[in-house]
This record gives sequence, C-alpha cells and structure tokens, in this order.
Amino acid sequence: MNNKIALVTGGTSGIGKEIVKELLDKGCIVITCYHNNESLANETEKEFNNDNLLIIKCDVSNEKEVVNMFNAIKEKYGKIDYLVNNAGTFIDNFIKDFNIDEFKKVLDVNLLGKVICTKYAYENMNNNGAIVNISSHLGVVPCTESPAYCVAAAGIINFTKATALEYADKKIRANSICPAFTPTPLSLRGWKQEEIDQKLKETPLGRFATPEDTAKLCLFLLSDDASFITGENVWINGGRL
Ligand SMILES: NC(=O)c1ccc[n+]([C@@H]2O[C@H](COP(=O)([O-])OP(=O)(O)OC[C@H]3O[C@@H](n4cnc5c(N)ncnc54)[C@H](OP(=O)(O)O)[C@@H]3O)[C@@H](O)[C@H]2O)c1
Repeated sequence: MNNKIALVTGGTSGIGKEIVKELLDKGCIVITCYHNNESLANETEKEFNNDNLLIIKCDVSNEKEVVNMFNAIKEKYGKIDYLVNNAGTFIDNFIKDFNIDEFKKVLDVNLLGKVICTKYAYENMNNNGAIVNISSHLGVVPCTESPAYCVAAAGIINFTKATALEYADKKIRANSICPAFTPTPLSLRGWKQEEIDQKLKETPLGRFATPEDTAKLCLFLLSDDASFITGENVWINGGRL
C-alpha cells in the first residue's frame, strides 16, 4: 500500500479517523474531509503531524464541493487509488414524528454523499483501485427510532453491488462494511445508556466493535490481498446477528 493515494471521507473523528491512521501507517498519502468541526480537524492534523495527510473542508452531500475537492486532489497528487466513503450523520426519531427535511438530510449525507463521491471517483481513480463504503448493522437489521439512518445504510449495501458491476471495467472493486454499534461521538449522541447496555447483552463476543476493528477490515478490502473480492458486504458485529 506504500505511496497509494487514498481519499477517506469524514476522517477527523471515530471510525474514519482510525482508517486514516492505519492508511498513514501503511505509507499511503491520505486526503480526508470534514463538514463542520474545524477544531477536530485541527486536532487531527496536529495529532498525526504527517506530511502525507491533507485535510479538506467538504460537505459530501454538496456536489459542487465534492467536485472542488477532487480537483484539489488532482492538482496536488493526480488520481486516487482508494476511496473510503465513511462520512455519516445520525438524527433519530420515530417515523411518525420525523421532520421530513431532517429525514432528507440523513439520506443526503449518508446515502447521496457516498453516491456523489463514488460518481466523481470513477474518472479520478486509477485502474485496479478500490472503494469501501461504510454502511451499518442497521442497514441489515433495522431498529425503531432510526428509520432514515436504516434506509440510507440499506441503500448503500446495494449501491455498492451496483458500483462493483459498473466499475469492474476499470478493475475497480467496491465492497461495503456493516459495523455494529461502535462507541464514537456519532453513536454516543444517538443512543440512551439502557439501549447501549442492551446492545452489549445481545453481542455474543461480549464487547462492542472498535474503530480499529472496522479500520483493519477496511484496509484488507482495499489491499491486493482482497483482489478477487468485489460487490461483497461484510458484517463486523461480534456475532450479533
Ligand atoms: N459509530 C457507530 O456505531 C457506527 C456503526 C455502524 C456504522 N457507522 C458508520 O460509520 C461512519 C462513521 O461514523 P462515526 O461513528 O465514526 O462518526 P463520527 O465519529 O461522528 O465521525 C463522523 C465524521 O464524518 C464527518 N461528516 C459528517 N457529515 C459530513 C458531511 N456532510 N460531509 C463531510 N464529512 C461529514 C464528520 O465531520 P464533522 O465533525 O466536521 O461534521 C466526522 O469527521 C458513518 O457512516 C456511520 O454511519 C457507525
């Protein structure tokens, strides 16, 4: 993976940040983006202190901003080899109570954000590249109070398969990962303590997923070790089926 160029969206926190770390450790050049939280972006830059890391402010649900981000990457590094569509948000509510604009916002970021980045990755990615989409356990097993998140995560799994079919003409592979509950700012904001305790009880291996668990699987799927794996969705959930 040395000197490969990777774009990881939402790499200033949680799972994305760990993926950035693992890619930098493997000698990749990593570009990541964030949406709002500039202080987290500055912290991330300081913490990694690595000339191989470029952090860009870009809302993945805004097509113009994504085009600008790819143009900036092209100018500085040329084409990318890897895309990790990780950026996501979480707004919970019951279906009957959901504000429809908020519902759309979750779809815009969690589903369309990944679609837009994938669309522009095609012309900006070298042959034999790889895409990993971070979906969610909730994309397979829905729950109450997170309908927009569940829909977006489910859509990503099939969108990944469609990408694998279409982008195979450039030998670009596309796979998705469904992590179970992983304590991060996103998930801790979204769940009550009793719900979190219940999730732990339902996990046969007796612990939560960590960002490292997902990052290691992501790196495997990006790497040449996974060169015949495409269109696949992998659960990472400690046996919580
Ligand atoms: N944590 C879990 O339990 C869990 C489980 C399964 C799947 N996932 C998925 O894993 C991914 C990462 O989640 P996480 O828990 O690591 O979240 P997190 O800690 O809240 O980090 C989210 C990252 O995404 C960025 N982001 C949010 N909206 C964005 C936008 N519109 N454009 C660009 N960047 C944006 C954030 O930047 P700002 O801070 O600047 O907004 C931040 O860098 C998400 O796709 C989530 O659905 C999480």
